[in-house]
Amino acid sequence: MKKNYKVSRREFLRMAGLTALTTISGKFISACGPLIQNLGNDELVSPRQPVDLHINLKARTDQTQIFSGQPTNVWRYSAEILSGNSSSTQTIPGSYLGPIFRLNSGQRVKIDFENDLPEETIIHWHGMHVPAEMDGHPKDVIRRGNVFNYEYTISNRAGTYWYHPHPHGRTGPQVYAGLAGLLIVSDEQEQALGLPSGEYDIPLVIQDRTFDQDNQLVYLSNSMMGTMTGFLGNQILVNGFPDYSISVDRRAYRLRILNGSNSRIYKLAWDDGTPLNIIATDGGLLQKPISLPYVTLGPAERVEIWVNFNQWAADAEHHLISLPWAGNSTPGMDGMMGNYFSPIPDGAEFEILRVLIGEKSFPGEVLPDQLSTYSWLDELDSINRKSPRNWEFGMNRMQWTINNRMFEMEQVTKDEIVRKGDQETWIIENRNSGMGMMGGMQMAHPVHIHGLQFQVIERQVEREFEWVWQSVAEGFLDLGWKDTILVMPGERVKVLIRFEDFMGLYLIHCHNLEHEDQGMMRNFLIESI
Ligand code: C2O
Ligand code: CU
Ligand code: CU
Repeated sequence: MKKNYKVSRREFLRMAGLTALTTISGKFISACGPLIQNLGNDELVSPRQPVDLHINLKARTDQTQIFSGQPTNVWRYSAEILSGNSSSTQTIPGSYLGPIFRLNSGQRVKIDFENDLPEETIIHWHGMHVPAEMDGHPKDVIRRGNVFNYEYTISNRAGTYWYHPHPHGRTGPQVYAGLAGLLIVSDEQEQALGLPSGEYDIPLVIQDRTFDQDNQLVYLSNSMMGTMTGFLGNQILVNGFPDYSISVDRRAYRLRILNGSNSRIYKLAWDDGTPLNIIATDGGLLQKPISLPYVTLGPAERVEIWVNFNQWAADAEHHLISLPWAGNSTPGMDGMMGNYFSPIPDGAEFEILRVLIGEKSFPGEVLPDQLSTYSWLDELDSINRKSPRNWEFGMNRMQWTINNRMFEMEQVTKDEIVRKGDQETWIIENRNSGMGMMGGMQMAHPVHIHGLQFQVIERQVEREFEWVWQSVAEGFLDLGWKDTILVMPGERVKVLIRFEDFMGLYLIHCHNLEHEDQGMMRNFLIESI
């Protein structure tokens, strides 16, 4: 991959998402003055700024009808708009998923989050560039009956982000019980493209779940192995429903896909081999669309697909499927671990979504060949550090670790402190550092960094693991801005990251939620220069 743009600091600020502050309504600009020059934590949380949207968001226990017969007990988010545009939240009827937030870059939002669950929780805004104190760090959990007041300015590029709980050790079960929702950001650059919108812009959240005979969710009943490997369910759900199908006209659609599963990896493709037209990734629109035979999507990753159903016959039925791949294998332990006790083993082929094509046809729709502008970060700009920073995801004494350490709530070691304003090269490595019986345990780790979007510049894989890597590599989408990347066994991924605007405590962790809950997570601290 060749990226040879030199990025100046000013250019980066403009591209990295602060565009919004200069392009939103005049009212906002005159109220806050030119923010770009001295953005700091104080400026962005300053109470002087008018709030465009005020929402009451609650996490509570509930029931929902997923199957006929007995309703399913779930935990869910529900929202009420106190002030602002009433179309800022949308609910998916009957789904346990939280409301979809539809926000605009530059908007100031205030979210009063109320915990009505029988345990502690906190919300994290996955992919959003917000001050550390608004990021939903596990140290900020609140008890039942308490309220956490979030307030921040949407500074991200247009894209598909999401929100979910982040209490340490309980993220897996809470997300599993139903707590997750999409946060969709739009901006002027995107709106000018005229991409499919409204009913032609379809969010698809893919998850896997296991239900018992009474239609109740079952989490990790197979205990130890499940906690070690991650949860894999018996059924694939889309937007909270099994056997999901959509009826479409023969025209262009925008599909926004989130892998909202605890640990399952998907290798998404059309069942007839039609390539996927990818228009966006974690951090929003690509510069240009790209066509891939399939896309590999680890937990928490997003991808947006532009598809013209006019290419298929009227009344046809097509499927979005997950293609087979090598799976997370453990040499010598295949019999025991190979399928993780799931009827849909890791790496199996299965159906995800059924698309029923209608008769109404709208010919002639084309995908714009330029989608957005942004600059590539340049490795030469990481000059302030002599060597890249390493993050080794591995196993130590039967525990998932990062640089041989487990998560500790407020602990930060020297090599986890960075400086605001710096750009760095990070090498994220999936390394076998185990011992004893588990020494050979190798799994892909979907690595996520809080608060910032980064760019991928290089992947390298050890020869020993090349065969696993080859089974998914063509579907890696390393263009654009990312906040989560799948790091395969024996792989090293080099990324560029720049610590803009905010200081404070953020997280880097594995987004296999069972790995995260067990401590495959570390703080990193952004300090002032
Ligand atoms: Cu989506 Cu720290 O997580
Ligand atoms: Cu995050
Ligand atoms: Cu992991």
